[in-house]
Amino acid sequence: MKILLFGARGRLGQELLRTLAPLGETIASAREGDLPAGVSPANWRPADLCAPEEIRAVVAAARPDVIVNAAAYTAVEAAEREPQLARAVNAIAPGVLADAAVEIGAGLVHYSTDYVFDGRGDRPWREEDPVGPLNEYGRSKLAGEQAIRHSGAGHLILRTSWLYAVAGQSFAKKMLELATHEREITMVSDQIGAPTSVRFLAEATAQLLAQSAGDTSALFASRGGTLHVACAGETSWFAFAEEIFLQVKQLGLPLASPLLRSVRSDDRPGALPRPLNSRLDTTRLRDRFGVAPPFWDVEFRALFPSLFARYELEMREANNSAQASLR
Ligand SMILES: NC(=O)c1ccc[n+]([C@@H]2O[C@H](COP(=O)([O-])OP(=O)(O)OC[C@H]3O[C@@H](n4cnc5c(N)ncnc54)[C@H](OP(=O)(O)O)[C@@H]3O)[C@@H](O)[C@H]2O)c1
Repeated sequence: MKILLFGARGRLGQELLRTLAPLGETIASAREGDLPAGVSPANWRPADLCAPEEIRAVVAAARPDVIVNAAAYTAVEAAEREPQLARAVNAIAPGVLADAAVEIGAGLVHYSTDYVFDGRGDRPWREEDPVGPLNEYGRSKLAGEQAIRHSGAGHLILRTSWLYAVAGQSFAKKMLELATHEREITMVSDQIGAPTSVRFLAEATAQLLAQSAGDTSALFASRGGTLHVACAGETSWFAFAEEIFLQVKQLGLPLASPLLRSVRSDDRPGALPRPLNSRLDTTRLRDRFGVAPPFWDVEFRALFPSLFARYELEMREANNSAQASLR
């Protein structure tokens, strides 16, 4: 299988480079710049997703069997200030990718988010439930979904929630950073969802594609569409923060635990509206593809030692470069 991966420098993209490798050849794309880790110059096609002609040229040159789009504008708060950029990357580019996929008969795997929902109710959202995004990021991601469906391309839109990786920015890393200089951290306790690791999401993506036995058109025609892919179980941001510092304590890691205080979203006037209920129902993932997500806390505990080691390394590197600039 020939795979064209967009967003190869992102958190999910980096993990996909690893999990997609056994399926065949992966051509990697990201914005112009350093080669993404693990990519050879022969398999590298830079493109800016804000430039439709660059997208079309890369797809036409690579002629993949399947396009996997892990690129996105993911700065949720900043999207309110630059909605046009968010829409260019999250709404227009997926439509251009989908049209380009139709032209060469390729399938498209794309990622979306729990933020397409308005967060009402307390049962997990099913794929066919009505959408109603609360902020610009959610609106731009929903428009991307709609453009793909409208294109007629064979596709899988994988909606996920509360994504984190060992490397790069994440809620867990933010908590660790805050704990180095704050004695008290306040966190909302009424936004409920499931932290999902890029490891699981990237492995699930590879498992889904592997079921095509090389014919993604047939797979997407029979079992394609929208699919929720998130870890099992649920928690709140407050309880997730508690779990992070419980791990710090149980592993005897060198970081003082702060005092955690819970607040309700209503108690934060002016905060960006986010869905209260971000639970995603993953029954379709199990029924159609036989993929059973791990529980979020089991997955998080398995990854936390590596995440903490990475955090310490990044802190040391930041300190070293700060000292070097003082010299
Ligand atoms: N993070 C979450 O909690 C969450 C939750 C639900 C769903 N999702 C979805 O999951 C997917 C993967 O997210 P992630 O966390 O891996 O995101 P990420 O780490 O922010 O990576 C996104 C990548 O997109 C690239 N990108 C942005 N604008 C681009 C442009 N104009 N041209 C080319 N590349 C561009 C970025 O490139 P640079 O490295 O050059 O900036 C970055 O590498 C996204 O579709 C996201 O919407 C995320």
